[in-house]
Amino acid sequence: MRIGLIGLGRIGAFHADTLAALDAVDELVVTDPVAAAVDGVLARHSVARAVGSPADVLASGVAGVVIAAATNAHAELLLAAVAAGIPTFCEKPVAGRIEEALKVQRALADSDVPVQIGYPRRFDPAFVEARSLALGGALGQVHTVRSTTLDPAPPPAAYLAVSGGIFRDCSVHDFDAVRWVTGQEVEQVYAVGAVDPDAAAELYADNDDYSTVSTLLTMADGTIGVVSNTRTNARGYDVRLEVHGVLDSVAAGLDDGLPLRSTEPGVTWPAGPAHTFFMDRLTEAFRRELAAFTRVAAGEIGSPCTVDDAMGTAWVAEAATLSARERRPVAIDEVRSAAG
Ligand SMILES: NC(=O)c1ccc[n+]([C@@H]2O[C@H](COP(=O)([O-])OP(=O)(O)OC[C@H]3O[C@@H](n4cnc5c(N)ncnc54)[C@H](O)[C@@H]3O)[C@@H](O)[C@H]2O)c1
Repeated sequence: MRIGLIGLGRIGAFHADTLAALDAVDELVVTDPVAAAVDGVLARHSVARAVGSPADVLASGVAGVVIAAATNAHAELLLAAVAAGIPTFCEKPVAGRIEEALKVQRALADSDVPVQIGYPRRFDPAFVEARSLALGGALGQVHTVRSTTLDPAPPPAAYLAVSGGIFRDCSVHDFDAVRWVTGQEVEQVYAVGAVDPDAAAELYADNDDYSTVSTLLTMADGTIGVVSNTRTNARGYDVRLEVHGVLDSVAAGLDDGLPLRSTEPGVTWPAGPAHTFFMDRLTEAFRRELAAFTRVAAGEIGSPCTVDDAMGTAWVAEAATLSARERRPVAIDEVRSAAG
């Protein structure tokens, strides 16, 4: 199958590698305004050929298109791909601003072109197992879910500037994981943020952003979500999910690559080396996610993460951003009704 790929930055180049290795994909049509990014992909993959623009990708007879461009380009590219009738995978979030995402959601409400939004943890084997145990009842009534994403170092300044802030860019993965694993919607959030004295401190200030945040989520059934994020976890890339029920507790992310050092006498676990980036921690999740998209593009399955579903997560990020700024709990209904 011929697949288009728009945007070849950090994640786009990685998606090129993943797509090229899938049996279902025999041709990749790629584009990015940065020539070096295109050259890098062409040098690694003989199945890839470059075209000059996203419009050229959409006109090249692709069976599906993957949008991995910067967040502020998502809405326009997503609408163009769907207008062309092409099954579309778009990296999270749906759009940089919630008003824009809402416009996309409304514009696509009656469309039958499948759209999959990229939340890779939904494909991580350990997250899948945790969800199956939680929803299957093996843990009993779930009372607490802790979800953690700690980045080793801040992304580049240009990325931060268009990312929408840490809640919309990073915590969204945790918000999505808590919703997905519990099957519950978030009703209220209370978030706090801080700026660490790292090299990027002035960037956070310039963007009204934080480097470390925590968010308490109250789910519709009373389950409590505890989300923790930072851009400055020097020991490594830490993605964890703990699900605690009245009968049992489980965790995803407790492997030898967990970037934590035990202070218990004699304990040598985790053995290391620590995960250093999302690509190595979530390689299998990304492979399964894009393999699922090729099946969506082939018409074999429906989208495993629709725009409507992803919007459920976007509202939580919106509420968390407001909560941290105004230092108060914020109900999801408040941000929803404010956006109209
Ligand atoms: N699902 C995940 O775990 C995950 C991880 C990282 C990034 N992302 C998402 O992927 C997107 C890209 O992130 P990144 O880290 O690769 O950013 P990046 O800044 O490294 O790369 C973005 C690329 O998009 C290109 N681009 C910008 N506008 C474009 C346009 N209109 N058409 C074609 N290309 C365009 C840029 O030239 C750049 O090469 C972001 O939206 C981010 O939220 C998701």
